[in-house]
Amino acid sequence: MKRIGYVSAALLASALSSMAYAEIDARAIAFNCWNCHTESSLDAKSSIPSLKSLSAQQLRQALLDFKYDKKPATLMPRLAKGYSDAELAAVAEYLSRY
Ligand code: HEC
Repeated sequence: MKRIGYVSAALLASALSSMAYAEIDARAIAFNCWNCHTESSLDAKSSIPSLKSLSAQQLRQALLDFKYDKKPATLMPRLAKGYSDAELAAVAEYLSRY
């Protein structure tokens, strides 16, 4: 009985974690981006580029290029590697609307 309880708890835990992956919270990811890519990024003196004028496609491509080391950079490759391709596409779509 105890054993069955343990197995169903494990199944429930794995079901819950796959649900968490299925639902990507693009807004939560975007808050991380906005720590650096703020309004002041529009300032010509800032070394952090503005994301304002980029389309969803341009953002997505830049993020994938960072992730797969196709675009040399200091910080973004390390950051992009922390997200799945689907998460990068979702945040690109979200950011393109701001
Ligand atoms: C800790 C600061 C920091 C955070 C957080 C950050 N970025 Fe960046 N981002 C940079 C810097 C610095 C660059 C310039 C490239 C480099 O050296 O990495 C950059 C460049 C970019 C570029 C290229 C823009 C262009 O015109 O070439 C994109 C797109 C981008 N970031 C998107 C994002 C997204 C999306 C997030 C959130 C998932 C994010 N960044 C989070 C600092 C940051």
